Amino acid sequence: SESKPWAGRFTQATDAFVEAFTASVGFDQRLARHDIQGSIAHATMLARIGVLSQKDLHTIVGGLETILAEIERGDFFWSVELEDVHMNIEARLTDRIGEAGKKLHTGRSRNDQVATDIRLYLRDEIDGLCQQLATLRAALIDLAEREADTILPGFTHLQVAQPVSFGHHLMAWHEMLARDQDRLRDCRKRLNVMPLGAAALAGTTFPLDRHYTAELLGFDRPAANSLDAVSDRDFAIEFTACASLVMMHLSRFSEELILWTSAQFAFVDLPDAFCTGSSIMPQKKNPDVPELVRGKAGRVFGHLVGLLTLMKSQPLAYNKDNQEDKEPLFDTLDTLKACLRAYTDMVPHLAPNREAMRLAALKGYATATDLADYLVRKGIAFRDAHEVVGKAVRLGIDSGRDLSQLTLDELKALSPRIEADVFGILTLEGSLQARDHFGGTAPNQVRQAVARARAQLAEE
Ligand code: ARG
Repeated sequence: SESKPWAGRFTQATDAFVEAFTASVGFDQRLARHDIQGSIAHATMLARIGVLSQKDLHTIVGGLETILAEIERGDFFWSVELEDVHMNIEARLTDRIGEAGKKLHTGRSRNDQVATDIRLYLRDEIDGLCQQLATLRAALIDLAEREADTILPGFTHLQVAQPVSFGHHLMAWHEMLARDQDRLRDCRKRLNVMPLGAAALAGTTFPLDRHYTAELLGFDRPAANSLDAVSDRDFAIEFTACASLVMMHLSRFSEELILWTSAQFAFVDLPDAFCTGSSIMPQKKNPDVPELVRGKAGRVFGHLVGLLTLMKSQPLAYNKDNQEDKEPLFDTLDTLKACLRAYTDMVPHLAPNREAMRLAALKGYATATDLADYLVRKGIAFRDAHEVVGKAVRLGIDSGRDLSQLTLDELKALSPRIEADVFGILTLEGSLQARDHFGGTAPNQVRQAVARARAQLAEE
């Protein structure tokens, strides 16, 4: 059995269950590449300040690079006895290169090491997520441009409210995702601070050049307080909060797709490749992908609460509790990446059913507000106009007609101010065109929003 790096003060072997219970190597091995990246920078700095010889540095870097290659080939044996990714790699290094390997951990603790690894790892992952979000946004922008003139019934309370451009609706999703991406970039800023040099908790007796190590690793600066550096995981919580917001947005998107692909709405068709069938009902085509994304939102929210609870009331500085940060964080990342992948693949293939959307908008008295606004322009107070239009809607419902199908005489009976020009504003197109201001749904405004979003994406 491999001897533990910390075995010196112990007289008993570790209990077999305790060994398995305390080990994290089963899941933290995914930090290997960043662990090695951090070790190479640490060693480089140690050599610069004269704590390591150039020869030792050379041997250490060569050894770590070989180990990274072994890990990436799947040739590395991960030992539970060596507890975690850090001790596994360090022990293997000493196996391979001998004495020099034993010097790597000078002026370092696993506490500042793990805090650094997670930050390096998460920083790369955030960059990848931002890429995914940008791709999804670009797909939404393209679709919005194509559908700027498509008329969708807009809903409040899931009751038809006013007609909107389908492109406008798609651009609403784009706005949400743009903020999500911005939040991730912001989270990355606070995360990009280096714990190394904090050692176990108090700093180290070696004259480490922390600014130099930080620079090597692309951190903005070394963490200003050693106790804080090793113990807080607020960056992981902040990230999971950002991830939760993305998932919340994707769950709303999903909910709409699920409704819209139902026969009762039939606004949109999903490609067969993104749906599954039923083992019993031959007619079924189920929107499993959006349903799963909707469900997985709950899982990510759970991780957010889990991480908050993990950190709650922990005394300074490092506690073993913190080892529990990894699985929720990793699962959040895996889940979010998969959901974004599903959406980036699916969105370009959404097939809108323009006729069904149009009919649904016609059926819902969606231009009632337009009629009320028309009466206001003819000199009637809005409250009175509201009442008149309510009666017009009643007449429509009772006689099975939409507002534009009422006769001028019928309308005039409700208000003598109504004239033949009313029919222009009662059309769905007229309703959209009339909302021609910044942020409004007029197709012309949607095209401007599309152009702005494209410019913004290109600039980011
Ligand atoms: N595997 C540990 C973690 O993830 C590394 C730090 C361990 N430090 C310690 N003093 N036991 O938190």
